[in-house]
Amino acid sequence: AHRLIIDTDPGVDDAFAIALAARSPEVELVGLTTVFGNVGLDLTTRNAQRLLAYLGRTDVPVVRGAEGPGGAADVHGEDGLGGQAHTLPESDTELFGDDVTGFFRERLTPETVVVAIGPQTNIARALDAGVEFPRLIVMGGGLDVGNTTARAEFNFWADPQAARTVIRKANPIVVPLNLTHRCIADAEFLAKVDQTLSNLTGTYRAYLAGRSENEGIYVHDAVAVAEAIIPGTLKTTTHLLDVDDEGALVEGKHQVEVAEDCDWPALRAFMEQRLSV
Ligand code: BDR
Ligand code: CA
Repeated sequence: AHRLIIDTDPGVDDAFAIALAARSPEVELVGLTTVFGNVGLDLTTRNAQRLLAYLGRTDVPVVRGAEGPGGAADVHGEDGLGGQAHTLPESDTELFGDDVTGFFRERLTPETVVVAIGPQTNIARALDAGVEFPRLIVMGGGLDVGNTTARAEFNFWADPQAARTVIRKANPIVVPLNLTHRCIADAEFLAKVDQTLSNLTGTYRAYLAGRSENEGIYVHDAVAVAEAIIPGTLKTTTHLLDVDDEGALVEGKHQVEVAEDCDWPALRAFMEQRLSV
């Protein structure tokens, strides 16, 4: 099994991503590092702990990371989990401190994959402190598509400078909206999987119902984690990119692998199977 650390701001699709990792024998989940994002850091950290308690994985350390304003309660609910965080057990395990850079220094081996599925603040700080990531997969950005402004995706918009640092320094695999907007957990999907997880999606479904034809949710973050579980799940193309002040992914001179395609029916079946109890 290869080692996996998830940097996360749970978040409904983050919850699906964490569950997918926790229930996949191909990876050893080494830790969750938290970041502000969908909601504030206190809530994203508590949600990470509760999800691990629900998944029976309180052995996995949670490290509290960067603070900032929560920005997506309209999608993820005021508590970050569709108003249903209270349906998950309270964790009785203490936090593993608040030094994310130190945690990376200690736990990153050449076989460790980091998947960053929130604002890139923790990752950028670690890079600035000299941490090297052997393999970094990032959910964020969009090529000519946004979901927060017309041009910017939420994670990159929430901390454009951090996203820029990651794009310029870390040689990441980027999983953009162009791909994740095709990866929809629809009503049929949600009926098949763990109902405790499905029940987190109400706010998100209501939000999307007003905006698109899709009945369901985008599982952005779980798509990125799937690539860590089974490398090659996503098909990548090399692009030369940068991030502008708004957080939009733009043409530039930094080499990035962009995950532009996947076999969604196969990936969907894989997720359904792993997320069922
Ligand atoms: C990203 O933003 C968040 O709201 C989701 O959890 C995902 O990480 C999608 O733009
Ligand atoms: Ca997220």
